[in-house]
Amino acid sequence: MANINVNILGMKFNNPIFTAAGPGAKDGEMCIAAVNGGAGGLVTKTISVEAADVPRPCMANTNSGFLNTELWSELTKEQWIEKEYKKAKEAGVPMIVSMGYTSEQISQVAPLVKPYADAVELSTHYVGTDVTPMINALKAAKDALDCPVFLKMSPHTDIQKIAKAAEDAGADGLVMINSFGPCMAIDIETGLPIMGSKTGYGWLSGAPIRPLAIRNIFDASQVVNIPIIGVGGVTNGRDAAEMLMAGASAVQVCTEAILKGPKVYGKIAKELNDFLDKNGYKDVSEIVGLAHKKIKERNFRTTSMPAVVNNDVCIKCGVCRTSCVYDAITIDEKLVIDSEKCFGCGLCVTRCPKKALSISYR
Ligand SMILES: Cc1cc2nc3c(=O)[nH]c(=O)nc-3n(C[C@H](O)[C@H](O)[C@H](O)COP(=O)(O)O)c2cc1C
Repeated sequence: MANINVNILGMKFNNPIFTAAGPGAKDGEMCIAAVNGGAGGLVTKTISVEAADVPRPCMANTNSGFLNTELWSELTKEQWIEKEYKKAKEAGVPMIVSMGYTSEQISQVAPLVKPYADAVELSTHYVGTDVTPMINALKAAKDALDCPVFLKMSPHTDIQKIAKAAEDAGADGLVMINSFGPCMAIDIETGLPIMGSKTGYGWLSGAPIRPLAIRNIFDASQVVNIPIIGVGGVTNGRDAAEMLMAGASAVQVCTEAILKGPKVYGKIAKELNDFLDKNGYKDVSEIVGLAHKKIKERNFRTTSMPAVVNNDVCIKCGVCRTSCVYDAITIDEKLVIDSEKCFGCGLCVTRCPKKALSISYR
């Protein structure tokens, strides 16, 4: 079994699969359930000065992703301080406390969480896209606390600029990404937006945002030396491996834990372990940032390189042929790729259920 213990800024985790600030860590009991379900670390639901007045409905699973309009914790900061953090600490794993939002709010909340937080995570979700209020919030947390302070990013396109500014201002680590939006879904039976917010807006999470998370993590980890904890669309161990390869030191899971329950953290950790074993990795650290190395080794080219089929594995299901817009695939006795017609687009490789197709980069 590969080693999947991780040490981030002195915090020791049995595995790199954590809860995310969200319903899966909405109170002490849920945190205990998450750790019993195999989570290697805890990130608790964001708290702020006031309890959130959450519009409802606030969660929906659509056929193209998960929408929420949850704001932050609907529990008061007093309840968290008096009860929930104590309970969550009983789980015995490092706990990262999520707080929001402005520097004034952080100055009030940070001293209260100090006895419980092994680290804190600052949500920047409601402070806009300008870097100044984020940095001010960071400084307020640094002034009040001795523990590591992580800044959690929304999926901004100028992630490198913001990540670098956060590092320069003293952030100990970054977390990315928050849910993406605003987005909207409409119930066509009623014509009403599904989310209960006044605007009808919601924020997208789950598998559809993973490519956005991967790109943000990949970009940010090129410009900072502080650890990045990844979050966004992780549903299984292979997704977690992908996020680690982009440059994350650990991974948080929110939507998948809402949909599948707290056992999913342990399931993902086991699948990650299986992936490492199968591919000959001895330690999870071997895949952290691997994509940065690999992309440099790749021969970038624009000329066509045809797909190749392994007919011993192909089941002739025809999925590749249906979506081959270059009409390069025929299936008779066996599957044949017309290398003159094949554009090398690579789609068939990603659609094949048996991994019978491949495409070379060289
Ligand atoms: C219902 C719901 C509530 C959330 N609440 C918070 C929150 O309080 N604070 C926060 O920083 N992120 C919050 N998030 C964002 C998640 O922590 C996470 O960044 C995002 O959902 C992407 O991860 P996922 O695809 O695994 O869900 C919430 C997400 C969902 C779906």
